[in-house]
Amino acid sequence: MPATPPADAGFDDLLNDKVRIVNLQLESLLDEQKDIHEDLKKALTYTLFSPGKRIRPALLLWSCEVVAGRDNHEARVAAAAIEMVHTYSLVHDDLPAMDDDDLRRGRPTCHKAFDEATAILAGDALLTLAFEVLATKIADTRLAVELINQLARAAGGAGMIAGQVADLRAEHTVGSVESLEYIHVNKTAKMFRCAAVMGGLCGRAELRQRWSDDGQLDALAQYGLKIGLGFQIADDILDVSASSEQLGKTAGKDLDAAKCTYPAVIGIEKSRELEHRLAREAIEALAPFGARAGMLHALAAALLQRNR
Ligand code: IPE
Ligand code: IPE
Ligand code: MG
Ligand code: MG
Ligand code: MG
Repeated sequence: MPATPPADAGFDDLLNDKVRIVNLQLESLLDEQKDIHEDLKKALTYTLFSPGKRIRPALLLWSCEVVAGRDNHEARVAAAAIEMVHTYSLVHDDLPAMDDDDLRRGRPTCHKAFDEATAILAGDALLTLAFEVLATKIADTRLAVELINQLARAAGGAGMIAGQVADLRAEHTVGSVESLEYIHVNKTAKMFRCAAVMGGLCGRAELRQRWSDDGQLDALAQYGLKIGLGFQIADDILDVSASSEQLGKTAGKDLDAAKCTYPAVIGIEKSRELEHRLAREAIEALAPFGARAGMLHALAAALLQRNR
């Protein structure tokens, strides 16, 4: 799959190609797990194959293509792993102790479809399975360890979990722009940065190049962080401007829970301006790739238009 979009293919078609690849990879990885408890497997299958947008794994595959000209086996495994971690984060985010949501990806949340204990355990199983597949399905051990390192840091207590803690603590407070940025960078943008960097690392393996020779990983990291922050700002905007049907999750929840969001703190217009500025800066960060970064340009532009 080329890194520059063919002139006749729309962005949605190209994203759908990636969604198919990611779903096939997830299916085969889950099928191999013969000893998983039957009840747990039902919950894992339910949550993993509900219709998520698969933006993080698509970003990972396109980042690999930008570096190496094509995606590869390592990138497909890493794409599945990051989607497992993301899906776990949603299952736990929806729990009554956290955002207490009933609807996710157009279906009852995991704890509604099953029960709370099963949802907690399904999240735990997805998180650990992500690291198992990176450790067992990538033959180049140096690459596997680096991917595990990147994903653990992005998802852990100085990354997504830090953002989730800060998000919950900020409920019913008058947030500052600084505290908002902390929450959004940690809970969401670091996983986007991780997806881009993991894709770049997988591409480097393909080319058998050193990982730090010409700033490509830095460029991908900057790009990922910017579109990730923009993605969470858009999520906040959609919460107040779109319907539950459109989103596949309950609209208006942030206001109900008195969440600290960009629209609440700086207003919708300024939030939209910031989202556009971040997309421009993200595209600027891709300069080292020249015309090869066409797909990542297209992704940054498409995320500005998203309505779910
Ligand atoms: C939702 O992520 C949580 C956020 C970080 C905003 P997505 O909007 O990517 O959710 P899915 O995977 O498409 O359901
Ligand atoms: C969640 O942010 C970010 C995660 C790390 C899961 P939100 O709480 O705003 O995500 P939604 O709106 O429930 O998808
Ligand atoms: Mg939340
Ligand atoms: Mg939530
Ligand atoms: Mg939200």
